[in-house]
Amino acid sequence: MKEDEKFRLKMMETVDEETMEWAQKASTEFAKRMSYYKCAMLEVETRFNVLNEEYILEHGRAPVNSIKSRLKTLPSLREKLERKNIPFDVDTMEEQLNDIAGVRVICSFPEDVYTMANAFLAMDDIEVLQEKDYIKNPKPNGYRSLHLIVAIPVHLAEGKRMTKVEIQLRTIAMDFWASLEHQLRYKQDNEFTEEMATELYACAQLSAALDLRMDKLRKSIQEHNSREELP
Ligand code: GTP
Ligand code: MG
Repeated sequence: MKEDEKFRLKMMETVDEETMEWAQKASTEFAKRMSYYKCAMLEVETRFNVLNEEYILEHGRAPVNSIKSRLKTLPSLREKLERKNIPFDVDTMEEQLNDIAGVRVICSFPEDVYTMANAFLAMDDIEVLQEKDYIKNPKPNGYRSLHLIVAIPVHLAEGKRMTKVEIQLRTIAMDFWASLEHQLRYKQDNEFTEEMATELYACAQLSAALDLRMDKLRKSIQEHNSREELP
């Protein structure tokens, strides 16, 4: 007998039929809601891809370097709900959590982050629920990114459904720092000393300086070339 069949039979012994039915319904509803989040993520990705294409046509370079999306996993959802004392119920979950669907838009230059964010937010069917600018106001550890929580319509057969997505916009340099910082900070068994935090903060400053320098270079190349084009 297969393992999952054994498990099902064991469940049947210990759980009454009514509870089983409830669990099945809840799991179907849960899968349905998660698929809406996946659709919302695809929708957000497409909007940024379209903005990127348009910009390439007009300016001859890509402001978006890459886009990464992730749907919160079931264990991570459960952990967050338990931590925040929120009951494990699909409606409450939808209401209280903003980061079930996450899209990370990695841009070339700091200016691109704002150009892309502003063009996205100007779309007339997007609702902005929250905006946190950790580029203008970095976190004390040095973390930089522009965070948006938006609701975007997902068009289903029965009509549209506004669905929340967390969007993080950052440059390649910001992403480089954040990815490595996350790896170091969350690796199990790693002890994190004050000294290490100071060193990480110094690295964040270096990454911010690099962004500024590259942005200056981009501007001077642009100005140089536009002068050349003059008659
Ligand atoms: P949650 O932590 O998700 O409950 O959100 P919050 O309300 O604290 O929001 P915030 O906008 O500060 O952070 C949301 C997400 O941004 C996190 O889940 C990370 O993906 C990212 N983030 C925020 N701070 C840091 C940081 O210091 N380092 C790294 N690597 N990522 C961060
Ligand atoms: Mg989060």
